[in-house]
Amino acid sequence: MASRNALIFASLAIVTLGSAAACQQSSLSGPRSIDRRTYGETSNGEAVDLYTMGNANGVEVQITNYGGIVVSISAPDRSGASADIVLGHDAIEGYEKDSPYFGAIVGRYGNRIANGQFTLDGATHRLARNNGQNHLHGGLKGFDKAVWQMSEREDPNGLAVELRYRSKDGEEGYPGNVDATVTYTLTEQNELRIDYAATTDKPTVVNLTNHSYFNLAGHAQEDILGHELMIDADRFTPVDEGLIPTGELRPVDGTPFDFRTPTPIGARINEKDQQLAFGTGYDHNYVLNGKAGSLRLVAQVREPRSGRVLEVLTTEPGVQFYSGNFLDGTIRGKGAKAYGPRAGFCLETQHFPDSPNKPTFPTTLLRPGQQYWTTTVYRFSTDRSS
Ligand code: BGC
Repeated sequence: MASRNALIFASLAIVTLGSAAACQQSSLSGPRSIDRRTYGETSNGEAVDLYTMGNANGVEVQITNYGGIVVSISAPDRSGASADIVLGHDAIEGYEKDSPYFGAIVGRYGNRIANGQFTLDGATHRLARNNGQNHLHGGLKGFDKAVWQMSEREDPNGLAVELRYRSKDGEEGYPGNVDATVTYTLTEQNELRIDYAATTDKPTVVNLTNHSYFNLAGHAQEDILGHELMIDADRFTPVDEGLIPTGELRPVDGTPFDFRTPTPIGARINEKDQQLAFGTGYDHNYVLNGKAGSLRLVAQVREPRSGRVLEVLTTEPGVQFYSGNFLDGTIRGKGAKAYGPRAGFCLETQHFPDSPNKPTFPTTLLRPGQQYWTTTVYRFSTDRSS
């Protein structure tokens, strides 16, 4: 396991900008602010809203109830200048038409299920096959394309937006009505905390995650290959050509997958390696060290020029590190920016891909009467010493 000392780049130093105070104040007092406004309409004519939450340190987060998408995260760099550090679109139309899950809540099952099927209690369930012969990220219309109910909540930890969605029995082939609740909290510690909860009325599988693409230099900057990444994982789950895990838990030691000490993402991405070839770069699940179920630091990323640092904490056993390999410049996002190869990276905290077909992996089974819950925290800071 990587030494924890190696994980600390520098002490946190976020400057107070107070820009968030420009947002309309609601019932919440102090420099924190929350504002709800109309975001637009889906192509089906459903109205969707946008919440803007700001904290006292100048961190601002926008969330829409279309897909529960994190539309923007503005955070200061080491000299106090703010930038939006997630890829996305300016308007709802972009997210509907052309989005590889930018910022979205992914479900009912994040990541792939081989051949789009699994067997549970003797019954085989056939799911939508939307990634070659496999099922990916909940199917053709997953949680990322649903319109969620959304409300604000005052929380002791900070401002919170709560999203609720009922995924109906049979949706995309999954059994059982699933009631999902996802709460985004912006804390005064500059964290975006995501609490996922779900219940079901029939046995089913659940694996929820968030698919934000980060570029800590700013969404409109070039690629993320210079970002220094640490992942606290001794092993990863190698895949076949279709990106389905083989079932092996392979040590990262001596491979380009070893991020136990901070290493630039681009340092080894072009090495001759079968796993990198299958993923066209990094597109792999890491077996996180530490105890799943307890919230622990699992990853850290530093962008050297801006000094922005992202830390990821989670209760999950795995994280998909995706280096934005399939972005090819054809998607024009915010401000008409063409997002080219590796314009952003994702750290999708999760259970392992294809767990419903892999009895040796931690289970994703949810039965009636059981409560699904997981927590992930994205914490923002800079490397400027205080
Ligand atoms: C997957 C990639 C996929 C991307 C966008 C990631 O979570 O691992 O293979 O291309 O999502 O769909």
